[in-house]
Amino acid sequence: MYNSKIIGLGKYVPDNVVTNDDLSKIMDTNDEWITERTGIKERRWVKEGSGDTTATMGVKAAKMAIERAGISKDDIDFIVFATLSPDMYFPGPGVQVQHALGIKTVGALDVRNQCSGFIYALSVADNFIKTGMYKNILVIGSELHSHGLDKTTRGRGVSVIFGDGAGAAILTREEGNKKGILSTHLHSQGEHAEELVLKAPGMGTRWVNDILADNNEDDESYFPYMNGQFVFKNAVVRFSEVIMEGLMANGLQKEAIDMLIPHQANLRIAQFIQNKFGLTNDQVFNNIQKYGNTTAASIPLALTEAWEAGKIKEGDTVVLAAFGSGFTWGSCIINW
Ligand code: UT7
Repeated sequence: MYNSKIIGLGKYVPDNVVTNDDLSKIMDTNDEWITERTGIKERRWVKEGSGDTTATMGVKAAKMAIERAGISKDDIDFIVFATLSPDMYFPGPGVQVQHALGIKTVGALDVRNQCSGFIYALSVADNFIKTGMYKNILVIGSELHSHGLDKTTRGRGVSVIFGDGAGAAILTREEGNKKGILSTHLHSQGEHAEELVLKAPGMGTRWVNDILADNNEDDESYFPYMNGQFVFKNAVVRFSEVIMEGLMANGLQKEAIDMLIPHQANLRIAQFIQNKFGLTNDQVFNNIQKYGNTTAASIPLALTEAWEAGKIKEGDTVVLAAFGSGFTWGSCIINW
């Protein structure tokens, strides 16, 4: 019987810091609104010409994770890459990582579950390890949002929230079923697909040539849309449900949580969950203040920084949870 265990974590964020005050110079917004509603003070946005892409940022985070895991790239049996912002429409960035790192021709899977992407990716990797099929799996979450945001007042409800960055983890086989990833729990509710969505370009909506032919500046379909309040209300319910589901599946009470790392969607959502589960500030790790919402990268970025800060110790019960576009949501319960 096997479990999977995280033995290496890495991160990468672009150098370019964009503060709330910087945004107030390009659109009608202000630091007070953004801080009060989201907790975000600044985010990283890739600078044009820097060479950073979703794939290259993922590669940098992966290199750090591999080094910290103390393994070689040749030990990696499989790659899972979660993103909603791939460099190319197809193929996805998993294969770019395989090539850039010079990993042998192992499988590379792309996961498209937006804010829940990293939990979905971990779940896939964990189950490949639990079945005995693979031993070491590289899991990456990376996003380059900034090129695709509407950075005018029209898009301010979305663009002030999202940031760029990447995180990565190495999962390895662990004998027995007491340590490492105990379980993952995944959900979806497609009836709300259009409440947090990027509609175009899409084969079922409008492809690039339709957009170019229309040449319509009022067309918003190729910018992300979010029904913020509706998403918020669903998020707080689903976060709580899926954390409880994970705890109960392992016979744990909420008091067992040593560290909760919620997807960094909004500091107010994280604080709501913290209060609901009766956790102290030391038991919840947030870094949305520095990075904004980095979607599939947010959990590995936060997990890496929590680990770097010495906030996660061997034997701790670590809970990861996410909710986002789809709607999709999920949790992961770890005995670290
Ligand atoms: O990661 C995936 C999951 N995502 C989430 O969980 C996000 C969940 N939702 C949220 O976090 C919040 O809904 C937001 C932070 C996105 C928005 O906060 P809100 O309190 O729901 O604001 P709102 O959209 O209802 O807008 C309130 C007002 C509006 O003005 P009026 O109509 O009241 O005059 C907006 O036009 O705030 C205005 N507004 C802004 N003002 C200044 C919207 N964006 C901005 C802005 N700066 N950036």
